[in-house]
Amino acid sequence: MRSFDEYRELVNAHLTDYIPAIDEKAGVLRESMEYSVKVGGKRLRPVLLLAACDFAGGDIMKALPYALSLEYIHTYSLIHDDLPAMDNDDLRRGKPTNHTVFGEDIAILAGDGLLNSAAEIMTGEVIRYHEEPEIMLRHARAAHEIMSRAGVRGMIGGQTADVKGEYEEATPELVEFIEEHKTADLLTAPVRAGLMLAGADEDMLNKMTSYAHDIGVAFQILDDILDFEGDAVLIGKNVGKDKDLGKCNYVCVHGSEAAHAELHRLTSSAKSVIAEFGSDADFFSALADQLEVRKY
Ligand code: IPE
Ligand code: IPE
Ligand code: MG
Ligand code: MG
Ligand code: MG
Repeated sequence: MRSFDEYRELVNAHLTDYIPAIDEKAGVLRESMEYSVKVGGKRLRPVLLLAACDFAGGDIMKALPYALSLEYIHTYSLIHDDLPAMDNDDLRRGKPTNHTVFGEDIAILAGDGLLNSAAEIMTGEVIRYHEEPEIMLRHARAAHEIMSRAGVRGMIGGQTADVKGEYEEATPELVEFIEEHKTADLLTAPVRAGLMLAGADEDMLNKMTSYAHDIGVAFQILDDILDFEGDAVLIGKNVGKDKDLGKCNYVCVHGSEAAHAELHRLTSSAKSVIAEFGSDADFFSALADQLEVRKY
């Protein structure tokens, strides 16, 4: 397997390659889509997809369109999350948010454009393998996995509970639902899709799903912690937003100490479930450790 930086370099080298050509009359749409994709970001989701595919012995070049599709979906979710009607943020990835640069109308359309492009790219890939039904089925499963975890039972459902979740009504169950769906689903999707593309067996799929769920929930708990304790310059987004918006997040419901403890518990749990893969899974256990101490 390669290192995180090597997978990320591959993603960055092909960052906008898969966005369909857009007529000049709608040129601002491409500009706006590219702005948010290129402006920065850790590329965690596409790296996870490539690494999972590699781990199961697949061809990462065939997985690349899916990795980028997922980064486009993630980026659309951030553009929409920042809109005045949602979190009303003016800073993202260290730069002004999409709607502050292009206006709300174009930001909404750029989000739509990125989401739709992902579906277009992935279904195009499925069709490409029409003469190899077994491979085609793997690709179809991966595409379905990504679209459903990004969908109404996944990220969109989580975001809905998040925007409607009032601080006063916050319960541990509601926060769990929000963190699982708005965030963990988009970290589970790449792991499962990468494995599916490689034709991994059910046992590997189950264990890695559990790993991804745990690092996914941990990721959002730390995002909530950083919103309280983080450094806006390092993070590249405003801090204190959840409190200002009266958001129901892990820290307000459980307190900072319990949040740190749960972050650590989930990280350990993620590593223990993949322990039986031994050193083959070193990439994933090291990643869980790095994510636990990330500052941005
Ligand atoms: C931000 O995700 C949104 C959350 C789910 C917390 P990331 O922290 O991965 O954002 P980028 O891609 O690095 O900007
Ligand atoms: C958003 O959660 C998760 C998404 C699906 C975009 P947040 O609203 O906490 O994400 P940030 O803190 O703005 O990145
Ligand atoms: Mg939000
Ligand atoms: Mg937000
Ligand atoms: Mg946040």
